Amino acid sequence: MSHVVLITGANRGIGKGLLAHYLAQPNTTVIGTVRDASSEKAQDLEKLPKGEGSGLIVVPLDINNPSSVTKAVSIIQTQHHIEHIDVVIANAGVCTHWGPVQEMADEDVISHFEVNTLGPLRLFKATASLLEKASTPKLIYISTLLASFSGIEQIPTLTAAYGMSKVAGNFLVKKIDAENKHLITLSVDPGLVQTDMGSRNAQLVGLEKAPVTVEDTVRGITNQIDAAKKSTTSGHFVNSNGESVAW
Ligand SMILES: NC(=O)c1ccc[n+]([C@@H]2O[C@H](COP(=O)([O-])OP(=O)(O)OC[C@H]3O[C@@H](n4cnc5c(N)ncnc54)[C@H](OP(=O)(O)O)[C@@H]3O)[C@@H](O)[C@H]2O)c1
Repeated sequence: MSHVVLITGANRGIGKGLLAHYLAQPNTTVIGTVRDASSEKAQDLEKLPKGEGSGLIVVPLDINNPSSVTKAVSIIQTQHHIEHIDVVIANAGVCTHWGPVQEMADEDVISHFEVNTLGPLRLFKATASLLEKASTPKLIYISTLLASFSGIEQIPTLTAAYGMSKVAGNFLVKKIDAENKHLITLSVDPGLVQTDMGSRNAQLVGLEKAPVTVEDTVRGITNQIDAAKKSTTSGHFVNSNGESVAW
């Protein structure tokens, strides 16, 4: 049986790196969700190298829209005959407000919660029955160090809406972990990575560039996913090196 991995936000950044990693493995079906399947970036995913017996399914999914999430899962079942999913990676995320809390509007908080918190909730609910059919199902949330309460004083970023939404996402994933005895979960901080989001955030804190490459974080994240067991790191908040991140 093929190993099936679903990744949201797979057209660029860390999501694309994860997609490329899994697609290069043998006997793996990778489902990459993208907002616009007709875009050049989405079409280019087909050109990535594939391992023996591996294949790619690209489906449109806008995590802001609950019916788009259920429709994407229906498409992979009815049109692509997917009957189980081994790993769901809630990677799609936004960080679009920078400034002190006093300048943060309700809309800034709501727009971050839509993608970063409700997104993984919608994704989990839509894929739960397919995860149940896998022998070792895993739900992975791409979180951030900026969701660490303990780090607030040490990390001088002005991204409260983003941090709040990822704290809530971590809580959600930890709750899902507690409620589902056969599901392995992880919240993973990828580091400050050379993507559109990471490069922007690096510039805003005065760095020339983000220190972590997509390849390095993908190697680390996938190692943590492979190693995670219910009896070891499930329900934990770790970085891509496997070190615990303080809540
Ligand atoms: N880069 C970092 O340094 C860093 C650090 C900590 C955590 N993270 C987390 O890592 C994850 C990936 O970040 P990245 O750096 O790869 O960011 P990125 O380069 O900005 O890519 C973000 C991805 O999320 C997708 N996305 C955004 N809104 C969406 C929506 N409503 N529905 C579906 N997809 C949506 C984007 O799709 P479009 O192309 O259609 O916009 C894109 O594929 C995020 O969850 C982020 O919070 C990143």
